[in-house]
Amino acid sequence: MRIIKVNLKKRSYDIVVGTNIIGSLGRHIRKINIGHDAYVITNAAIKNKYGKALCNCLKEEGFEVKFKLVPDSEKSKSIELAYGIIRDITLFDQKKRIFIVAFGGGVIGDLAGFIASIYKRGIPYIQVPTTLLAQVDSGIGGKTAVDLAQGKNLLGTFYQPRLVFSDVKILKTLSLRQIKSGLAEVIKYGIIRDPQLFLYLEKCYPDILSLKESALEFMVMRCSGIKAKIVQQDEREEKGIRTVLNFGHTIGHAIEAAGNYKRYNHGEAIALGMLVAADLSQRLGFVSRKTVNRIENIVQAVGLPTRINKLSLQAIIKAHYRDKKFIGQKNRFVLIRDIGRTQIQENIPLNLIKAVLKERI
Ligand SMILES: NC(=O)c1ccc[n+]([C@@H]2O[C@H](COP(=O)([O-])OP(=O)(O)OC[C@H]3O[C@@H](n4cnc5c(N)ncnc54)[C@H](O)[C@@H]3O)[C@@H](O)[C@H]2O)c1
Ligand SMILES: [Zn+2]
Repeated sequence: MRIIKVNLKKRSYDIVVGTNIIGSLGRHIRKINIGHDAYVITNAAIKNKYGKALCNCLKEEGFEVKFKLVPDSEKSKSIELAYGIIRDITLFDQKKRIFIVAFGGGVIGDLAGFIASIYKRGIPYIQVPTTLLAQVDSGIGGKTAVDLAQGKNLLGTFYQPRLVFSDVKILKTLSLRQIKSGLAEVIKYGIIRDPQLFLYLEKCYPDILSLKESALEFMVMRCSGIKAKIVQQDEREEKGIRTVLNFGHTIGHAIEAAGNYKRYNHGEAIALGMLVAADLSQRLGFVSRKTVNRIENIVQAVGLPTRINKLSLQAIIKAHYRDKKFIGQKNRFVLIRDIGRTQIQENIPLNLIKAVLKERI
């Protein structure tokens, strides 16, 4: 078991990473003294698999536990559902010291964090992420959100959890498609900050795809460390540092939206977005073809897409202009100078973006 610190003064917290550690969760919560009554937000599938283990380890430490189940899809990130849950919490919250446990993937993490941030102007919550994407990315850093009809994540807050507890054993029941989706973010961390991690992926990706526990633990630890460091330096994305986490996301989000969030899942779209960003970097003379090929090779090796299928150039460009990352009339991309080195570039000519996209369609 390893512990990574997120140093944010009063809002500091630990990220605990290990294999088969769920039994110790109660003890970790007890140490941070955040309350007595656990309101666990999860879904039926996750509760069926791991609900008992979670409940037992909390009860053993004397916590009261109440589960709240939400539907298993992005639809759960809605203000209506959040409101319903808050009303349910008020019924539970009689002479109690409540804290929220987000027990699930990014959807549950974003929703539970959002609720924790607004109920009584904020109550403690912890993240117990159960997908690879949530363990390496969404569970850390305190970005919470629900979606609006007008777009994803439009209603949200920055609100840090009090603990992130990542047991990689829980990842073993994920579908291969979900693992690959999380892997896209892992590849992203290698490209933006960690050449050694990138090398590790090139060498050991079969271990990851076969869910070898030591490989999963190494990867989650390494990525958690990178994310913690970035969040420490730029908690609210105000200094242009946290922006690097958007590598591959400018076009990735457009691809995700153009496919109505069905054609490609988040990681698949981000894999394509990273390739487009790498292509752009090469066209602008920042990076060699050889480096772009390394990125393309690892994306392909883990089974993520390298070509955009069944989406038109027009649909992607239209979605791109609707993205909230679009600042004024300028576009803004995280590009690369090497594996491990980024470069923020604004105002990339539309014709160049179109030309690069065309080559991937
Ligand atoms: N807050 C942030 O910083 C941040 C960053 C990236 C993404 N996100 C958000 O995260 C969401 C996507 O998260 P996700 O990819 O984890 O998807 P998800 O939460 O929808 O989970 C994917 C699927 O895996 C299932 N599942 C979860 N854990 C499982 C397990 N251990 N075994 C078997 N099945 C399991 C879920 O029930 C679901 O069907 C999006 O809403 C996105 O906006 C947030
Ligand atoms: Zn992402």
